Order: sequence, then C-alpha cells, then structure tokens
Amino acid sequence: MSLNYTKKTLSHFTHPQNIGTLKDADAQASVGNMVCGDQLSFSIKVKDGVIKDIKFLSFGCASNIATSSVLTEKVKGMTLEKAKNFDWQKIVKDLGGLPSQKIHCSILAVEGLRKVIAEYESRHAKVAIPAKKVRLVAKKKIKPAGARKKK
Ligand code: FES
Repeated sequence: MSLNYTKKTLSHFTHPQNIGTLKDADAQASVGNMVCGDQLSFSIKVKDGVIKDIKFLSFGCASNIATSSVLTEKVKGMTLEKAKNFDWQKIVKDLGGLPSQKIHCSILAVEGLRKVIAEYESRHAKVAIPAKKVRLVAKKKIKPAGARKKK
C-alpha cells in the first residue's frame, strides 16, 4: 500500500525546515501519540510575546516531519496569542492535503506547539500582587539583621 503524498509534503519530508533544538530556548516541550508511537519535541525563543525562533525534532513518520516543518515556518514571527489558536487544518491545506490516515500527524504538531507555549507561559508567569498587599508590606518596619532588643 502506498500513500498519496503531495509534492510539497515530500519536499518538507526530505528537506525539513527548522529542524533541531534551540540551545538558548525559552521553553521546550515534547508530545507523543500513544497509538502510532510517534514523538515530537519543540523549542522556542520568544521576545515581546512573539515567537522569534522555533525548532523541532521528530521521532516519527514522514507526515510528522512534514507537518512540523510547515508549522514552524508558519508560526515563526507570530504572537503567542495567535499561535495558540493555530489550526491543524491550515497545515493540511498548505501541504495540499494529507492521506486521511495521516491527519493525526498535523494534530500532533499543533498539540506540540500548544504545549511548548504553555511551558513558556508557566515559566514566565507574572504573579500580580494586589496593590493592597503591596501597601501592607511597605508599612512594615524591617529590623536589620542582628539588631538587639533594648533592655
Ligand atoms: Fe503518528 Fe505520523 S503516524 S504522527
């Protein structure tokens, strides 16, 4: 049985873009599909809420590689907010279609993207301290370390 891959899918499979791992990544994450056993890892570099760089490593099929390659091309330069809503159907459309039994490969790529963004956000979460608590802390007198009590 042979699958009908488009020229573009075969091109991304044989010449994948953005493959590897970013050494100075702001976040990394891996996902896998329990049924087919394929795995993917993404690493991203983010500046001012924009994905400045993204790379992937694939331990999977030709579609796993091709869909991840297209995804990295599409989301590089995209805001995190927009990338969070990136749709797997855009990958399939961009490749000119995928065999039906390979659609899940594009879904796995999007899951990997969402996971690495979630990892980035959890690492860089800003904890907002309510203004009322800030004022309470500011009013407290802080004794210098080693200060003795007067007798
Ligand atoms: Fe599972 Fe491609 S066969 S990701």
